[in-house]
Amino acid sequence: MVRSDCQAATKRLSRNLVGFYFYAGIGVGRMVVLNGRDLLSMADLSSAEIQAILELAAEMKAGRAKPRCEKTLGLLFQKASTRTRVSFSVGIFQLGGQVLDLNASVTQVSRGEPMIDTARVLDRYLDIVAIRTFDQKELETFAHYAQIPVINALTDWEHPCQVLADLQTVQEEFGSLKGLTLTYVGDGNNMAHSLMLGAALVGMNVRIASPPDYQPHPDIVAQTKAIAGDRTEVLITTDPQKAAQGSHVIYTDVWASMGQEDLAESRVPIFQPYQVNDELISRADASAIVLHCLPAHREEEITDAVIEGPQSRVWDQAENRLHAQKALMAMLLGAA
Ligand code: CP
Ligand code: NVA
Repeated sequence: MVRSDCQAATKRLSRNLVGFYFYAGIGVGRMVVLNGRDLLSMADLSSAEIQAILELAAEMKAGRAKPRCEKTLGLLFQKASTRTRVSFSVGIFQLGGQVLDLNASVTQVSRGEPMIDTARVLDRYLDIVAIRTFDQKELETFAHYAQIPVINALTDWEHPCQVLADLQTVQEEFGSLKGLTLTYVGDGNNMAHSLMLGAALVGMNVRIASPPDYQPHPDIVAQTKAIAGDRTEVLITTDPQKAAQGSHVIYTDVWASMGQEDLAESRVPIFQPYQVNDELISRADASAIVLHCLPAHREEEITDAVIEGPQSRVWDQAENRLHAQKALMAMLLGAA
């Protein structure tokens, strides 16, 4: 086996061992081991693993758990970022480690060095890497060729780290997740994909309301339905009012994601009926909270009144990026 095949096999073995412990039913909470794993998709995690990350994140946020790992995190970003970049950087500092900002423009990545070469080199310097790029396949290629844990810090396909923070925020609000209903209104994009998978994994009902040509990818819909089985609802609709009815979480994101700036203006009239405003949230449960991954375009996908209103939890949600990712890194690095 060449080194890269060996590395991929090691990561698969680590995943299967965790699966064995889980199915053997030997103290699930204690036996969750993420050491050496990747997080490329929300579906890389089991329900028990998500709960373990959220529990550790809550303990760390409360100051009751203080795992230490003096490791080096690389941030290989090919897109802009405020929250993800800063929360990962501060997170690794607080764990006792350090960060290297490997923005594409300051590396040979921007000059076309192949990802398979970059991966094998960075693997020998770094302990863990978070990657923000366009194509999910590029992330998967990197992970295949690197032995260190690789984290999806956003691709066009998924944004799982955001969803860990989102679930932490919902759990803080409602005390638990199971049986709650999450409604996402807007573009069937990377956020919608990771939310669908994450919500189904933790036993939440999930509803997505998007314009007809902007629905989530059928593969993610099928994957979500397979996870949900007949235990929870998965509704994909074009009707935002129906989707919001009685929901506990109303979530939205920009109508044009990074890399789609040219399409932003033409999308406004298409997405206008999908705006999260007072009328839409009045249909949700009285206890409902409103989430947005940020950055927000006020008066487009969400009104100023709603994002600044009493049901908005967007600032707690943004803060939780730090806690959830600290817990994730501590677990992937074997420090918790
Ligand atoms: N929500 C989020 O990922 O924000 P950034 O793009 O600022 O990192
Ligand atoms: N869908 C957005 C999320 C930003 C955090 C984007 O990809 O730009």
